[in-house]
Amino acid sequence: MGQYDRGGADSGSMFSHVDLRLNEAHSARMYDFYLGGKTNYGADREAAGRVAKAYPGIFVCARENRAFMHRATRMLALRGIRQWLDIGTGIPTQPNLHEVAQKVAPDAHVVYVDNDPIVLAHAQALLASTAQGRTSYIQADVNEPESILESPKLRETLDFGRPVALSLNALMHFVPDAQDPYGIVNRFMSALPSGSALALSHCTPEFDPAAWDQVTRIYTNAGTAVQFRGRDEVEKFFSGLDLVEPGIVVGHRWRPDPADADEDREEPTDAQVSLWAGVGIKP
Ligand SMILES: C[S@@+](CC[C@H](N)C(=O)[O-])C[C@H]1O[C@@H](n2cnc3c(N)ncnc32)[C@H](O)[C@@H]1O
Repeated sequence: MGQYDRGGADSGSMFSHVDLRLNEAHSARMYDFYLGGKTNYGADREAAGRVAKAYPGIFVCARENRAFMHRATRMLALRGIRQWLDIGTGIPTQPNLHEVAQKVAPDAHVVYVDNDPIVLAHAQALLASTAQGRTSYIQADVNEPESILESPKLRETLDFGRPVALSLNALMHFVPDAQDPYGIVNRFMSALPSGSALALSHCTPEFDPAAWDQVTRIYTNAGTAVQFRGRDEVEKFFSGLDLVEPGIVVGHRWRPDPADADEDREEPTDAQVSLWAGVGIKP
């Protein structure tokens, strides 16, 4: 079993003796592998390798998911949002959400939440805020909204009297229907004032059901419950919100930015991306 103790001056209870459970595959470290990161171990690479064999598009999917997060965050910052609650943050990958937001709005405040101990172990990279802005990290489970909403760290960092963007990127497919995913998102959105936003991306089996069947089995056998959903089911997460143009679309079609275009890279297919993405605003 791996343990992580940062030690040193920045060591607090948050960082000491984190059990990394290196002998099990973890979704955060598998995702890090898809993104070409270095924070993954044998069990993660083995499971991620099986996913890539069943669904070679996974690397494109991960990259496009991250690119959607960048564009959605930038768009919301340009619309005037200054506060984010990002749940299912993942292992720090530059640029992190607060870096994207603070590039537009240096005074942006961001609260990160993840339930994986490896993210906690690397959370220091998420805390490097601008002087005008602020970031904090909470280790918690999205299935327990009250523990997040009542966290003193959240209340110290975000002002719930002003709009907040709830960012749930590639998270809700880890919450099967039996755990009431729609009730959970609703609980968070009901705590936020008018003008708040939901930015959400979600993997879908619709473009290649056979491959996603295998992906579902690989995650389930590795001990991670998943439920990949179709467009109609993803749309339900946005009920009661006003969708921002172009609505819910395959990730790479959500407000593509010509500045990101790479001449050497072909336009990905919907099956490669396999991700529904959208942003809704609370009226
Ligand atoms: C695929 S990664 C997405 C990372 C990042 N949001 C992005 O889009 O680039 C999913 C993240 O959700 C986290 N996660 C999974 N289930 C969770 C839960 N029940 N509560 C909180 N975080 C969870 C995992 O640990 C992982 O870091």
